[in-house]
Amino acid sequence: MRIVLVGPPGAGKGTQAHLLAKTLSIPHISTGDLFRANISQSTPLGLEAKAYMDAGKLVPDEITIGMAKDRMMQPDAAKGFLLDGFPRNLGQAKALDEILAENGIALDGVLDLEVSEDEVVRRIAGRRLCRNNGSHVFHVDYNQPATPGVCDECGGELYQRTDDTEEAVRVRLEEYHTKTEPIIGYYADQGLLVTIPALGKVSEVTERAIEALRG
Ligand code: AP5
Ligand code: ZN
Repeated sequence: MRIVLVGPPGAGKGTQAHLLAKTLSIPHISTGDLFRANISQSTPLGLEAKAYMDAGKLVPDEITIGMAKDRMMQPDAAKGFLLDGFPRNLGQAKALDEILAENGIALDGVLDLEVSEDEVVRRIAGRRLCRNNGSHVFHVDYNQPATPGVCDECGGELYQRTDDTEEAVRVRLEEYHTKTEPIIGYYADQGLLVTIPALGKVSEVTERAIEALRG
């Protein structure tokens, strides 16, 4: 299966993508995680992306599209993939269409996670991520690790993202409304969109997502 996950910052895309990718046996491709990995390794791409990310702005398409394409062309993605955080504007959605067409493949669905702005602010404020693996996501109240500060899955150290400040979150929400929301209509017009409420327990949202994707 080839799936795109959309939703505002803090909707639970990374959390659900990790679980859905396991269930569907396809790789979880997160452009946010790819940028963060480049930043922690101080690559030229990471250095370029960091200022945009810390400010909550989208990283320019010239950098993002090539990076996402390279990842989609890895052998493990031949059987399908779950895209988390890409595409994020109409230019990227059209570039993705071209990449898929060049390879004779198509999307099976676009899953939109719906959640209120108050809830995303609560989720982001308490989020903790694993230093070893960006897919290992926790929350100090809602999704606690067994030992505070330690990843349940690999024992890695948990940390708070540098773009989870109040100011950067405000900009990320603005970027989402002005640049990302238009892709929801784009995919609805293609008959690919399924929208689910992302409230409730993590496991309940996963069940809802699987049901929606099965159609
Ligand atoms: P990215 O890393 O993609 O961040 P984002 O879209 O802002 O989304 P988040 O990671 O904040 O949230 P999420 O929806 O994954 O929620 P999570 O599962 O963590 O992008 C970061 C930056 O990179 C961008 O601002 C941009 O600069 C750049 N970038 C990335 N892709 C780009 C692109 N394509 N183009 C240009 N720039 C790009 O959950 C949040 C919290 O809630 C967690 O603590 C979790 O434990 C908790 N939680 C999850 N589900 C539930 C639930 N059901 N109930 C209670 N709590 C829950
Ligand atoms: Zn971990």
